Amino acid sequence: MPSLNAMARSAILAAAHNRATKAFMGRYGMRLGASRFVAGETLDQCVGVIRVLNQQGFKCNATLLGEAVASAADADRAVAEYQGLIKRLATERVNCNVSIKLTLLGLDLDEELAESNMVQLLELSAELGLTMRIDMEDSVHVASTLKIYRNLLARGCDNVGVVLQSCLRRSAADLESLLPLAPNLRLVKGAYLESREVAFPDKAEVDDNYVRLLEQALRGAGYTAIATHDDRMIHHAITFAEQHQIPRDHFEFQMLYGIRPQLQRELLGKGFTVLVATCYGTHWYPFFMRRLAERPANVLFLARNLVRR
Ligand code: FDA
Repeated sequence: MPSLNAMARSAILAAAHNRATKAFMGRYGMRLGASRFVAGETLDQCVGVIRVLNQQGFKCNATLLGEAVASAADADRAVAEYQGLIKRLATERVNCNVSIKLTLLGLDLDEELAESNMVQLLELSAELGLTMRIDMEDSVHVASTLKIYRNLLARGCDNVGVVLQSCLRRSAADLESLLPLAPNLRLVKGAYLESREVAFPDKAEVDDNYVRLLEQALRGAGYTAIATHDDRMIHHAITFAEQHQIPRDHFEFQMLYGIRPQLQRELLGKGFTVLVATCYGTHWYPFFMRRLAERPANVLFLARNLVRR
């Protein structure tokens, strides 16, 4: 029997596709709570947030929000926007890398198009001393995303990382096959609505799998980004790393802007590398709905803001 939280999560993710919800959120969402998780609607605003976080000692990771383009021309526009972002971060000399979704670069239209767009961005990033990470989208895109990641490594791109999701049954095998490549991996639980055929239906199983993947990745030759706000996972990672003498420069913690800032500061205070992921742009709607779904109590926070308006 799924828990109340799991049911609320599914309901929120399903409601995200509803036209009326989209229209309402598009109009009021930023004022009702999205601004808590989004580092601004413009690059200028995001750079301001990154500067402050850098001053506090955090690394950052900028993402221009957006996903799934409908045409090659839209993908070209996304490439141009990302080129602007990369150049700006380099000019500002901030400590910040860049994340991107391959569907924004045309993955749903043509795998080769997405890959060549990614190569363009990686070449520019390498020239300017930046690294990039390919976000992981829903399970339909995992195989093609990992295939492109492998191709990029085979081309010699060494400034790129990818993401694995512990909710997916396939991730253990994916990790096993990636480890010989000394990958730069971000481990997350997974933010998308998935069927029980491909994903673990119970949160406890997702958490157990996170622990298994985490231990396997930390023991491997690559770099591990432990991207979670979960105390239990974080505590386990610290203990495991100490027990197995895994150097602190082989991993880092990552959290989203606006979520558990106190915990972010505590880890920084203990001498760990902590990256705060700062997403910006006007296409914040799906991102915001995933943040609500992760913690259905956030809907109460939204409702409170609604009453206060
Ligand atoms: P869990 O959901 O169990 O939450 C643990 C605790 O953290 C909660 O009890 C609560 O206190 C707090 N918390 C978590 N989410 C919260 C929220 N939205 N608001 C307030 N408190 C919250 N996913 C994906 O599918 N592909 C990707 O590429 C990425 N990329 C990514 C980058 C980074 C830097 C992070 C931190 C996360 C992602 N994610 C992601 C999202 C990830 O899959 C997952 O949905 C969220 O991190 C929430 O899961 P937790 O691991 O935090 O655990």
